[in-house]
Amino acid sequence: MSPTPGRTSDGPGRRSFGADGSLRDDLFGDAFASSGDAFAESRLVFLEGNRLPERFRGLAESGVPSFSAAEIGFGTGANFALCAELFFRLCPDRTLEYEGLEGYPLSPAELRAAHARWPGELKPWAEALQKTWDEGKDELAFRNARLHLRFGLFADVLPTLERKADAWILDGFAPSKNPDAWSDALFAQIARLSAPGATAATFTVAGDVRRRLLRAGFDVEKRPGFGRKRSRLEARLARPAGEVAPGAVPGTSAGECKKALRHALEQAVRSGDESRARSLLGEAGAKPDGGLLFLALRSPAPVGLLSLLLARGCPPDARNAKGSTALIEAIRAGLPEAEELLLANGADPGLPDGRGRTPETWRALVRNGTRKR
Ligand SMILES: C[S@@+](CC[C@H](N)C(=O)[O-])C[C@H]1O[C@@H](n2cnc3c(N)ncnc32)[C@H](O)[C@@H]1O
Repeated sequence: MSPTPGRTSDGPGRRSFGADGSLRDDLFGDAFASSGDAFAESRLVFLEGNRLPERFRGLAESGVPSFSAAEIGFGTGANFALCAELFFRLCPDRTLEYEGLEGYPLSPAELRAAHARWPGELKPWAEALQKTWDEGKDELAFRNARLHLRFGLFADVLPTLERKADAWILDGFAPSKNPDAWSDALFAQIARLSAPGATAATFTVAGDVRRRLLRAGFDVEKRPGFGRKRSRLEARLARPAGEVAPGAVPGTSAGECKKALRHALEQAVRSGDESRARSLLGEAGAKPDGGLLFLALRSPAPVGLLSLLLARGCPPDARNAKGSTALIEAIRAGLPEAEELLLANGADPGLPDGRGRTPETWRALVRNGTRKR
């Protein structure tokens, strides 16, 4: 279906401009940007979605010299220009390294036509990009941004890259129109090329995309979308870069996917990361079972997590492998607020542990100091 990618346009017939000037790829059957205020939407989905305003401000106050971003689907360069313009405003003394991946580059004429709709503040970047295209170059240093254009199919280009990205802009057409931009193999490469704590943002919340990001080691969160759109996706690398979940290879089974989800959830609860646990519990297949209550009780944020887990359906009278109940473990841990929460959520106040010791017995033992907490 797709013509061979190359430095020049695939010629007439591949792309067309609508009456409002919007660009469409007729072979993929999808638009480059949504209709309406595409720039405001991109700012929300990709810049806010990667928390770039906040991170750029932080960078300006830190000693870190540069920030690295990468985009799957460079197209007209609109996301690059938005990102570079923000970086220039907030971080004028630092360097933005930007990898722009593109398999079917626009012709210089198409690029000019697309840039005609850009707002005034992006015009300097439009001109710089047009010059780069006219000269047939694939590197652009403009103000404090360095753009590295990587022409070729995502699947061919990604394995050749080495620079680790702090933020990913995932903009390769809708998954239903272009599965190659959302494959397990692509996400495994993205994980390999991610700096610790890297983020990724996209407009789609398709279940497959969320599961694939998760398998590649990212936690994902649905966030309110732009305008009338319900949602968009924010992702954050949860495992150290390089430690990709075993399932992050093509052909991962549903079972492996579930395992990766369970692993991520246990990690989040164990480390007291309530917001990550909340997002993971929202995933299809996440099971709020009693075992998590015991992990929460030993975590750095037991009360918040317990309240989340109980609200999501963890059984309050769960027992651990030794037959102890969550209520008894809360007593032993000296957590009266956790005790109250469990009781308020229906825990049986008289339920004994496997050796017949009731919560009351345990309270007395802890009070008298005869049992270690
Ligand atoms: C939605 S458009 C990107 C819009 C772009 N971010 C912008 O700011 O204009 C998706 C882009 O991905 C490119 N693309 C789609 N599939 C690709 C593939 N498998 N490899 C490389 N590029 C691809 C298309 O040519 C297109 O330019």
